[in-house]
Amino acid sequence: MIDKIQTLTEEIKNLSATLPEQVEELRIKYLSKKGIISALFNDFRALSPEEKRQLGQPLNILKNFATEKINSLRENLSASASDDSAALDLSRTETPLPLGSRHPLSIVKNEICDIFARMGFSIAEGPEIEDDWHVFSSLNFAADHPARDMQDTFFIARNPADVLLRTHTSSVQTRVMEKAQPPVRIICPGRVYRNEAISARAHCFFHQVEGLYIDRNVSFADLKQVLLTFAREMFGPQTQIRLRPSYFPFTEPSAEMDISCNICGGKGCAFCKGTGWVEILGCGMVDPNVLDACGIDSKEYTGYAFGMGIERITNLKYRVKDLRMFSENDVRFLSEFEAAKR
Ligand code: DAH
Repeated sequence: MIDKIQTLTEEIKNLSATLPEQVEELRIKYLSKKGIISALFNDFRALSPEEKRQLGQPLNILKNFATEKINSLRENLSASASDDSAALDLSRTETPLPLGSRHPLSIVKNEICDIFARMGFSIAEGPEIEDDWHVFSSLNFAADHPARDMQDTFFIARNPADVLLRTHTSSVQTRVMEKAQPPVRIICPGRVYRNEAISARAHCFFHQVEGLYIDRNVSFADLKQVLLTFAREMFGPQTQIRLRPSYFPFTEPSAEMDISCNICGGKGCAFCKGTGWVEILGCGMVDPNVLDACGIDSKEYTGYAFGMGIERITNLKYRVKDLRMFSENDVRFLSEFEAAKR
């Protein structure tokens, strides 16, 4: 049998084909179930254990060699075939068309949504052109709160009804609560607008994900656990969180959440300004005034809310240094994310 294997190896080395049908004939001759190599494997089964030990490896090598040879014949043919047809097929582009890639903000938004979807949150969306009630008044902003100021908010029309570009996705909370009774468990991704001078660190539009959970007996501990789970899913199991007391009109108590800097691992670097921590979101227990304003009985229900900037999370994941790159649509920048998780 060893002679046979050697002869066949020589024979296969010299195989050639000019047509795809010939390659197929060769494949059938050597590699199909009734082919020469399968026949050798059949003979092999009847051999003594000693012979098997000697011949097993050469036989496998032969089979692999034949497979590779026939595949390479096929590839050569199809490469030259496409060269030929490029000259003939007038509908083909001269150079291959580059494929687009997902925008880094979309990649990260999808990842955030996936993590919360696994924890039972569903996605809710609302309009970018909003009114004062949904963006401010229903969320317990005082009538003279500075966020309503022209400096921050893009007003489209002042009177009779205020029309403005939403400054945060918290407006979607109101839209959902006005329609639905608890339990409500949603996340709301979307674009928001603020009247800021454009620079590397600020833009007049950016993206947020808002979260809201309302039911009986929802507590701050529930909020903390959900946010810890999110942080570890997003940035890795070693991630630590810390909550610092803060203020938002629509939550009481309120907090800001930091994660241990995932760039230096908490040791302190330029990104975290040497502190080892970076702020990623605001959160708190929904203020009873907000529940009542949206038609939910604050004596019966409690809830938590949180909101984060997608650009910030993306910077932490991919270290994008200049916010403007997200909206310039420079393909050299965008194509860097091709291999990233979609
Ligand atoms: N709306 C806040 C902002 O735009 C973010 C935020 C903070 C949302 C705390 C929340 C929250 O739901 O509880 O900066």
